[in-house]
Amino acid sequence: MTTDTTGTAARDGEPRRGGPADSPFVRACRREPGPHTPVWFMRQAGRSLPEYREIRANVPMLESCRRPDLVTEITLQPVRRHGVDAAILFSDIVVPVAAAGIDLDIVPGTGPVVAEPVRTAADVERINPIGRDDVSYVDEAVRLLVAELGDTPLIGFAGAPFTLASYLVEGGPSRTHAKTKALMYGDPELWHALCARLAEVTLAFLRVQVDAGVSAVQLFDSWAGALSEADYRRYVLPHSAHVLAGLAGAGIPRIHFGVGTAELLGAMGEAGADVVGVDWRTPLDVATRRIGPDKAVQGNLDPAVLLAPWPVVEAAVRRILDEGRAAPGHVFNLGHGVLPETDPEVLTRVVALVHELSARPAA
Ligand code: CP3
Repeated sequence: MTTDTTGTAARDGEPRRGGPADSPFVRACRREPGPHTPVWFMRQAGRSLPEYREIRANVPMLESCRRPDLVTEITLQPVRRHGVDAAILFSDIVVPVAAAGIDLDIVPGTGPVVAEPVRTAADVERINPIGRDDVSYVDEAVRLLVAELGDTPLIGFAGAPFTLASYLVEGGPSRTHAKTKALMYGDPELWHALCARLAEVTLAFLRVQVDAGVSAVQLFDSWAGALSEADYRRYVLPHSAHVLAGLAGAGIPRIHFGVGTAELLGAMGEAGADVVGVDWRTPLDVATRRIGPDKAVQGNLDPAVLLAPWPVVEAAVRRILDEGRAAPGHVFNLGHGVLPETDPEVLTRVVALVHELSARPAA
Protein backbone atom coordinates (compact mmCIF):
# COMPACT_ATOMS: atom_id res chain seq x y z
CA MET A 1 0.00 0.00 0.00
CA THR A 2 1.09 3.52 -0.74
CA THR A 3 -0.50 6.67 0.56
CA ASP A 4 -0.94 9.58 -1.82
CA THR A 5 -0.97 13.25 -0.93
CA THR A 6 -4.70 13.28 -0.24
CA GLY A 7 -4.22 10.58 2.36
CA THR A 8 -6.28 8.04 0.42
CA ALA A 9 -4.88 4.53 0.40
CA ALA A 10 -4.06 3.16 -3.07
CA ARG A 11 -2.69 -0.28 -3.97
CA ASP A 12 0.25 -0.31 -6.41
CA GLY A 13 -0.98 -1.02 -9.92
CA GLU A 14 -4.51 0.16 -9.23
CA PRO A 15 -5.81 3.53 -10.44
CA ARG A 16 -4.73 6.27 -8.08
CA ARG A 17 -7.60 7.41 -5.86
CA GLY A 18 -8.04 10.97 -4.74
CA GLY A 19 -6.92 13.99 -6.75
CA PRO A 20 -8.27 15.05 -10.15
CA ALA A 21 -8.20 11.48 -11.55
CA ASP A 22 -10.88 10.60 -8.99
CA SER A 23 -12.94 13.77 -9.42
CA PRO A 24 -16.66 13.71 -10.30
CA PHE A 25 -15.76 15.00 -13.79
CA VAL A 26 -13.20 12.31 -14.63
CA ARG A 27 -15.40 9.61 -13.06
CA ALA A 28 -18.36 10.62 -15.26
CA CYS A 29 -16.11 10.60 -18.34
CA ARG A 30 -15.09 7.05 -17.39
CA ARG A 31 -18.75 6.07 -16.86
CA GLU A 32 -18.11 5.47 -13.15
CA PRO A 33 -20.61 6.57 -10.51
CA GLY A 34 -19.79 9.74 -8.60
CA PRO A 35 -21.25 11.99 -5.91
CA HIS A 36 -23.06 14.23 -8.45
CA THR A 37 -23.27 15.04 -12.15
CA PRO A 38 -20.24 17.23 -12.92
CA VAL A 39 -20.68 20.53 -14.74
CA TRP A 40 -18.45 22.95 -16.63
CA PHE A 41 -19.16 25.39 -19.47
CA MET A 42 -17.50 25.74 -22.84
CA ARG A 43 -16.11 29.31 -22.97
CA GLN A 44 -16.54 29.63 -19.22
CA ALA A 45 -13.44 31.84 -19.20
CA GLY A 46 -14.35 34.85 -21.26
CA ARG A 47 -16.40 37.91 -21.92
CA SER A 48 -19.32 37.10 -19.63
CA LEU A 49 -17.01 37.79 -16.65
CA PRO A 50 -16.15 41.37 -15.62
CA GLU A 51 -12.90 40.16 -14.07
CA TYR A 52 -11.95 38.69 -17.48
CA ARG A 53 -12.74 41.92 -19.33
CA GLU A 54 -10.65 43.81 -16.81
CA ILE A 55 -7.57 41.63 -17.12
CA ARG A 56 -7.83 41.58 -20.94
CA ALA A 57 -8.46 45.34 -21.27
CA ASN A 58 -5.17 46.20 -22.96
CA VAL A 59 -3.87 42.78 -23.96
CA PRO A 60 -4.56 41.31 -27.42
CA MET A 61 -6.07 37.80 -27.41
CA LEU A 62 -3.05 35.93 -28.82
CA GLU A 63 -0.68 37.71 -26.46
CA SER A 64 -2.85 36.77 -23.48
CA CYS A 65 -2.66 33.10 -24.58
CA ARG A 66 1.15 33.32 -24.57
CA ARG A 67 1.50 34.72 -21.06
CA PRO A 68 1.39 31.93 -18.46
CA ASP A 69 0.50 34.36 -15.65
CA LEU A 70 -2.57 35.60 -17.56
CA VAL A 71 -3.52 32.12 -18.77
CA THR A 72 -3.41 30.86 -15.19
CA GLU A 73 -5.47 33.72 -13.77
CA ILE A 74 -8.12 33.65 -16.54
CA THR A 75 -8.44 29.85 -16.35
CA LEU A 76 -9.00 30.04 -12.57
CA GLN A 77 -11.58 32.87 -12.68
CA PRO A 78 -14.64 30.73 -13.53
CA VAL A 79 -13.56 27.98 -11.11
CA ARG A 80 -13.44 30.47 -8.24
CA ARG A 81 -16.64 32.22 -9.22
CA HIS A 82 -18.94 29.35 -10.23
CA GLY A 83 -17.53 26.27 -8.46
CA VAL A 84 -17.50 24.31 -11.73
CA ASP A 85 -16.17 20.73 -11.64
CA ALA A 86 -13.41 21.36 -14.18
CA ALA A 87 -11.22 24.15 -15.49
CA ILE A 88 -10.51 24.51 -19.20
CA LEU A 89 -7.17 25.92 -20.27
CA PHE A 90 -7.46 29.49 -21.53
CA SER A 91 -6.10 29.40 -25.06
CA ASP A 92 -7.54 29.23 -28.58
CA ILE A 93 -7.69 26.64 -31.33
CA VAL A 94 -5.46 28.79 -33.56
CA VAL A 95 -2.62 29.12 -31.01
CA PRO A 96 -0.76 25.98 -32.26
CA VAL A 97 -1.34 26.99 -35.90
CA ALA A 98 0.32 30.33 -35.22
CA ALA A 99 3.16 28.44 -33.50
CA ALA A 100 3.44 26.32 -36.67
CA GLY A 101 4.31 29.46 -38.66
CA ILE A 102 0.95 30.66 -40.02
CA ASP A 103 0.53 34.43 -39.78
CA LEU A 104 -2.85 35.07 -38.16
CA ASP A 105 -4.64 37.22 -35.63
CA ILE A 106 -7.75 36.87 -33.47
CA VAL A 107 -9.89 39.90 -34.24
CA PRO A 108 -12.39 40.93 -31.51
CA GLY A 109 -15.97 40.30 -32.65
CA THR A 110 -14.81 38.34 -35.72
CA GLY A 111 -12.51 35.50 -34.68
CA PRO A 112 -9.35 34.13 -36.28
CA VAL A 113 -8.20 35.92 -39.46
CA VAL A 114 -5.37 34.40 -41.54
CA ALA A 115 -3.05 36.79 -43.43
CA GLU A 116 -2.43 34.43 -46.39
CA PRO A 117 -5.04 31.67 -46.70
CA VAL A 118 -3.81 28.11 -47.28
CA ARG A 119 -4.99 26.85 -50.68
CA THR A 120 -2.05 25.24 -52.55
CA ALA A 121 0.51 22.50 -51.97
CA ALA A 122 3.13 25.21 -51.36
CA ASP A 123 0.83 26.78 -48.73
CA VAL A 124 0.50 23.43 -46.94
CA GLU A 125 4.32 23.27 -46.77
CA ARG A 126 4.23 26.48 -44.72
CA ILE A 127 2.63 24.59 -41.81
CA ASN A 128 5.63 23.45 -39.79
CA PRO A 129 5.66 20.68 -37.20
CA ILE A 130 5.62 21.95 -33.62
CA GLY A 131 7.17 20.69 -30.39
CA ARG A 132 7.20 21.69 -26.75
CA ASP A 133 9.65 24.55 -27.31
CA ASP A 134 7.29 26.21 -29.79
CA VAL A 135 4.53 26.39 -27.17
CA SER A 136 6.58 26.47 -23.97
CA TYR A 137 4.13 29.04 -22.55
CA VAL A 138 1.38 26.39 -22.68
CA ASP A 139 3.59 23.84 -20.94
CA GLU A 140 4.37 26.39 -18.24
CA ALA A 141 0.75 27.53 -17.82
CA VAL A 142 -0.53 23.95 -17.47
CA ARG A 143 2.08 23.18 -14.80
CA LEU A 144 1.19 26.33 -12.85
CA LEU A 145 -2.51 25.50 -13.14
CA VAL A 146 -2.20 21.88 -12.07
CA ALA A 147 -0.37 23.06 -8.94
CA GLU A 148 -3.05 25.70 -8.20
CA LEU A 149 -6.10 23.55 -8.96
CA GLY A 150 -5.48 20.71 -6.50
CA ASP A 151 -8.28 18.16 -6.89
CA THR A 152 -10.06 20.13 -9.65
CA PRO A 153 -9.26 18.66 -13.06
CA LEU A 154 -7.85 20.79 -15.89
CA ILE A 155 -9.14 20.10 -19.40
CA GLY A 156 -6.69 20.63 -22.25
CA PHE A 157 -7.97 21.19 -25.76
CA ALA A 158 -7.20 21.67 -29.43
CA GLY A 159 -9.06 22.24 -32.67
CA ALA A 160 -9.69 19.23 -34.90
CA PRO A 161 -8.23 19.16 -38.43
CA PHE A 162 -11.49 20.05 -40.25
CA THR A 163 -12.28 23.12 -38.14
CA LEU A 164 -8.67 24.34 -38.31
CA ALA A 165 -8.58 23.70 -42.07
CA SER A 166 -11.73 25.76 -42.50
CA TYR A 167 -10.12 28.82 -40.86
CA LEU A 168 -6.93 28.37 -42.88
CA VAL A 169 -8.59 27.82 -46.27
CA GLU A 170 -11.31 30.48 -45.87
CA GLY A 171 -8.90 32.95 -44.27
CA GLY A 172 -11.40 33.57 -41.47
CA PRO A 173 -14.80 32.51 -40.12
CA SER A 174 -17.25 31.24 -42.74
CA ARG A 175 -20.94 30.38 -42.70
CA THR A 176 -20.89 28.02 -45.70
CA HIS A 177 -17.30 26.69 -45.63
CA ALA A 178 -17.55 26.95 -49.44
CA LYS A 179 -13.84 27.36 -50.22
CA THR A 180 -13.00 24.58 -47.78
CA LYS A 181 -15.46 22.18 -49.40
CA ALA A 182 -14.32 23.22 -52.90
CA LEU A 183 -10.78 22.17 -51.96
CA MET A 184 -11.97 18.99 -50.24
CA TYR A 185 -14.10 17.81 -53.20
CA GLY A 186 -11.90 19.28 -55.94
CA ASP A 187 -8.46 18.16 -54.79
CA PRO A 188 -8.81 15.33 -52.26
CA GLU A 189 -5.08 14.62 -52.32
CA LEU A 190 -4.22 18.18 -51.28
CA TRP A 191 -7.07 18.12 -48.74
CA HIS A 192 -5.70 14.99 -47.08
CA ALA A 193 -2.16 16.42 -47.08
CA LEU A 194 -3.46 19.57 -45.35
CA CYS A 195 -5.44 17.63 -42.75
CA ALA A 196 -2.56 15.25 -42.11
CA ARG A 197 -0.28 18.22 -41.32
CA LEU A 198 -2.89 19.80 -39.07
CA ALA A 199 -3.46 16.49 -37.28
CA GLU A 200 0.27 16.36 -36.41
CA VAL A 201 0.20 19.94 -35.11
CA THR A 202 -2.90 19.21 -33.03
CA LEU A 203 -1.50 15.97 -31.66
CA ALA A 204 1.78 17.63 -30.71
CA PHE A 205 -0.10 20.51 -29.02
CA LEU A 206 -2.24 18.08 -27.01
CA ARG A 207 0.81 15.99 -26.04
CA VAL A 208 2.46 19.07 -24.54
CA GLN A 209 -0.66 19.60 -22.42
CA VAL A 210 -0.88 15.92 -21.43
CA ASP A 211 2.82 15.79 -20.48
CA ALA A 212 2.33 18.92 -18.36
CA GLY A 213 -0.52 17.26 -16.44
CA VAL A 214 -4.00 17.93 -17.86
CA SER A 215 -6.66 15.47 -16.63
CA ALA A 216 -8.68 15.26 -19.88
CA VAL A 217 -8.62 16.70 -23.39
CA GLN A 218 -11.36 18.02 -25.63
CA LEU A 219 -11.01 17.97 -29.42
CA PHE A 220 -13.17 20.80 -30.83
CA ASP A 221 -14.46 20.07 -34.32
CA SER A 222 -16.88 22.96 -34.03
CA TRP A 223 -17.77 23.16 -37.73
CA ALA A 224 -17.90 19.43 -38.62
CA GLY A 225 -21.71 19.68 -38.67
CA ALA A 226 -21.36 21.35 -42.07
CA LEU A 227 -20.67 17.89 -43.56
CA SER A 228 -22.81 14.87 -44.43
CA GLU A 229 -21.95 11.70 -42.56
CA ALA A 230 -20.50 10.10 -45.72
CA ASP A 231 -18.21 13.07 -46.36
CA TYR A 232 -17.28 13.29 -42.68
CA ARG A 233 -16.24 9.64 -42.72
CA ARG A 234 -14.28 9.98 -45.94
CA TYR A 235 -12.55 13.35 -45.57
CA VAL A 236 -12.35 14.08 -41.85
CA LEU A 237 -12.75 11.10 -39.54
CA PRO A 238 -9.37 9.47 -40.40
CA HIS A 239 -7.51 12.64 -39.39
CA SER A 240 -9.40 13.20 -36.14
CA ALA A 241 -9.00 9.47 -35.40
CA HIS A 242 -5.22 9.86 -35.84
CA VAL A 243 -5.22 12.58 -33.16
CA LEU A 244 -7.41 10.67 -30.72
CA ALA A 245 -5.51 7.38 -31.25
CA GLY A 246 -2.26 9.21 -30.58
CA LEU A 247 -3.55 9.99 -27.07
CA ALA A 248 -5.02 6.56 -26.35
CA GLY A 249 -2.08 5.59 -24.16
CA ALA A 250 -2.24 8.73 -22.04
CA GLY A 251 -4.84 7.25 -19.68
CA ILE A 252 -7.03 10.36 -19.65
CA PRO A 253 -10.53 10.87 -21.11
CA ARG A 254 -10.82 12.25 -24.65
CA ILE A 255 -13.91 14.39 -25.38
CA HIS A 256 -14.92 14.98 -29.01
CA PHE A 257 -17.28 17.91 -29.69
CA GLY A 258 -18.95 19.60 -32.64
CA VAL A 259 -22.01 21.76 -33.37
CA GLY A 260 -24.91 20.62 -35.56
CA THR A 261 -23.54 17.07 -35.50
CA ALA A 262 -26.77 15.10 -34.90
CA GLU A 263 -26.03 12.95 -37.96
CA LEU A 264 -22.36 12.54 -37.01
CA LEU A 265 -22.60 11.55 -33.34
CA GLY A 266 -21.95 7.85 -33.98
CA ALA A 267 -19.01 8.58 -36.28
CA MET A 268 -17.51 11.12 -33.86
CA GLY A 269 -17.58 8.46 -31.16
CA GLU A 270 -16.02 5.91 -33.50
CA ALA A 271 -13.20 8.37 -34.18
CA GLY A 272 -11.85 7.36 -30.77
CA ALA A 273 -13.61 9.46 -28.14
CA ASP A 274 -14.44 8.43 -24.57
CA VAL A 275 -17.02 11.22 -24.31
CA VAL A 276 -19.06 12.72 -27.16
CA GLY A 277 -20.14 16.35 -26.88
CA VAL A 278 -23.72 17.01 -28.02
CA ASP A 279 -25.21 20.37 -29.01
CA TRP A 280 -28.72 21.45 -27.91
CA ARG A 281 -30.49 20.11 -30.99
CA THR A 282 -30.35 16.44 -29.99
CA PRO A 283 -31.80 15.25 -26.65
CA LEU A 284 -29.15 13.32 -24.68
CA ASP A 285 -31.22 10.08 -24.61
CA VAL A 286 -31.51 10.18 -28.41
CA ALA A 287 -27.81 11.03 -28.68
CA THR A 288 -26.93 8.08 -26.44
CA ARG A 289 -28.80 5.68 -28.74
CA ARG A 290 -26.74 7.00 -31.66
CA ILE A 291 -23.41 6.93 -29.82
CA GLY A 292 -23.80 3.57 -28.09
CA PRO A 293 -23.45 2.33 -24.52
CA ASP A 294 -19.65 2.46 -24.23
CA LYS A 295 -19.24 6.23 -24.26
CA ALA A 296 -20.29 9.07 -21.96
CA VAL A 297 -22.02 12.20 -23.26
CA GLN A 298 -21.43 15.89 -22.56
CA GLY A 299 -24.01 18.65 -22.94
CA ASN A 300 -26.37 20.14 -23.80
CA LEU A 301 -28.19 23.27 -22.57
CA ASP A 302 -28.83 25.81 -25.34
CA PRO A 303 -26.60 28.76 -24.30
CA ALA A 304 -29.40 31.16 -25.29
CA VAL A 305 -31.69 29.63 -22.64
CA LEU A 306 -29.43 31.26 -20.03
CA LEU A 307 -30.77 34.63 -21.22
CA ALA A 308 -34.37 33.64 -20.29
CA PRO A 309 -36.02 34.04 -16.83
CA TRP A 310 -34.79 31.62 -14.15
CA PRO A 311 -37.84 29.26 -14.17
CA VAL A 312 -37.15 28.57 -17.86
CA VAL A 313 -33.50 27.83 -17.11
CA GLU A 314 -34.42 25.58 -14.20
CA ALA A 315 -36.90 23.55 -16.27
CA ALA A 316 -34.30 23.09 -19.04
CA VAL A 317 -31.63 21.95 -16.54
CA ARG A 318 -34.08 19.40 -15.04
CA ARG A 319 -34.98 18.05 -18.49
CA ILE A 320 -31.32 17.69 -19.52
CA LEU A 321 -30.42 15.85 -16.28
CA ASP A 322 -33.39 13.50 -16.88
CA GLU A 323 -32.40 12.83 -20.49
CA GLY A 324 -28.76 12.40 -19.44
CA ARG A 325 -29.75 9.51 -17.13
CA ALA A 326 -30.09 7.38 -20.29
CA ALA A 327 -26.33 7.74 -20.86
CA PRO A 328 -23.72 5.61 -19.09
CA GLY A 329 -22.00 8.83 -18.00
CA HIS A 330 -23.08 12.48 -18.22
CA VAL A 331 -21.02 15.66 -17.98
CA PHE A 332 -23.37 18.65 -17.83
CA ASN A 333 -22.38 21.47 -20.18
CA LEU A 334 -23.88 23.87 -22.69
CA GLY A 335 -24.55 22.83 -26.28
CA HIS A 336 -21.94 25.42 -27.36
CA GLY A 337 -20.00 28.25 -25.71
CA VAL A 338 -21.26 30.79 -23.16
CA LEU A 339 -22.63 33.88 -24.94
CA PRO A 340 -20.84 37.09 -23.89
CA GLU A 341 -24.11 38.72 -22.73
CA THR A 342 -24.82 35.93 -20.21
CA ASP A 343 -25.30 37.02 -16.59
CA PRO A 344 -22.53 35.22 -14.66
CA GLU A 345 -24.89 34.86 -11.66
CA VAL A 346 -27.06 32.56 -13.76
CA LEU A 347 -24.07 30.31 -14.52
CA THR A 348 -23.31 30.07 -10.80
CA ARG A 349 -26.95 29.14 -10.08
CA VAL A 350 -26.90 26.46 -12.79
CA VAL A 351 -23.83 24.84 -11.21
CA ALA A 352 -25.53 24.75 -7.80
CA LEU A 353 -28.77 23.40 -9.31
CA VAL A 354 -27.03 20.62 -11.24
CA HIS A 355 -25.16 19.58 -8.09
CA GLU A 356 -28.30 19.68 -5.93
CA LEU A 357 -30.56 17.79 -8.34
CA SER A 358 -28.00 15.09 -9.14
CA ALA A 359 -26.60 14.51 -5.63
CA ARG A 360 -26.24 10.79 -4.90
CA PRO A 361 -25.70 9.35 -1.43
CA ALA A 362 -22.20 7.96 -0.89
CA ALA A 363 -22.01 4.26 -1.84
O1 CP3 B 1 -13.74 27.44 -23.15
C1 CP3 B 1 -12.98 28.23 -22.57
O2 CP3 B 1 -13.36 28.96 -21.61
C2 CP3 B 1 -11.51 28.25 -22.93
C3 CP3 B 1 -11.14 29.20 -23.88
C4 CP3 B 1 -11.39 29.02 -25.38
C5 CP3 B 1 -11.28 30.11 -26.26
N1 CP3 B 1 -11.40 29.67 -27.53
C6 CP3 B 1 -11.03 31.49 -25.82
C7 CP3 B 1 -11.45 32.59 -26.70
C8 CP3 B 1 -11.65 27.90 -26.17
C9 CP3 B 1 -11.89 26.48 -25.74
C10 CP3 B 1 -11.64 28.32 -27.53
C11 CP3 B 1 -11.82 27.42 -28.68
C12 CP3 B 1 -12.22 27.98 -29.97
N2 CP3 B 1 -11.75 29.10 -30.60
C13 CP3 B 1 -13.12 27.34 -30.83
C14 CP3 B 1 -13.81 26.04 -30.54
C15 CP3 B 1 -14.95 26.25 -29.62
C16 CP3 B 1 -16.14 26.85 -30.28
O3 CP3 B 1 -16.55 27.93 -29.86
O4 CP3 B 1 -16.68 26.19 -31.18
C17 CP3 B 1 -13.24 28.13 -32.00
C18 CP3 B 1 -14.12 27.85 -33.19
C19 CP3 B 1 -12.35 29.23 -31.84
C20 CP3 B 1 -12.10 30.33 -32.81
C21 CP3 B 1 -12.45 31.63 -32.20
N3 CP3 B 1 -11.62 32.32 -31.33
C22 CP3 B 1 -13.68 32.34 -32.28
C23 CP3 B 1 -14.87 31.93 -33.13
C24 CP3 B 1 -13.58 33.47 -31.44
C25 CP3 B 1 -14.65 34.49 -31.09
C26 CP3 B 1 -14.51 35.75 -31.84
C27 CP3 B 1 -15.32 36.85 -31.17
O5 CP3 B 1 -14.69 37.79 -30.62
O6 CP3 B 1 -16.56 36.75 -31.19
C28 CP3 B 1 -12.28 33.43 -30.88
C29 CP3 B 1 -11.74 34.38 -29.89
C30 CP3 B 1 -11.77 33.89 -28.48
N4 CP3 B 1 -11.30 32.68 -28.05
C31 CP3 B 1 -12.23 34.61 -27.37
C32 CP3 B 1 -12.01 33.81 -26.24
C33 CP3 B 1 -12.29 34.13 -24.81
C34 CP3 B 1 -12.79 36.01 -27.41
C35 CP3 B 1 -11.63 36.95 -27.45
C36 CP3 B 1 -11.84 38.13 -26.58
O7 CP3 B 1 -12.25 38.02 -25.41
O8 CP3 B 1 -11.51 39.23 -27.07
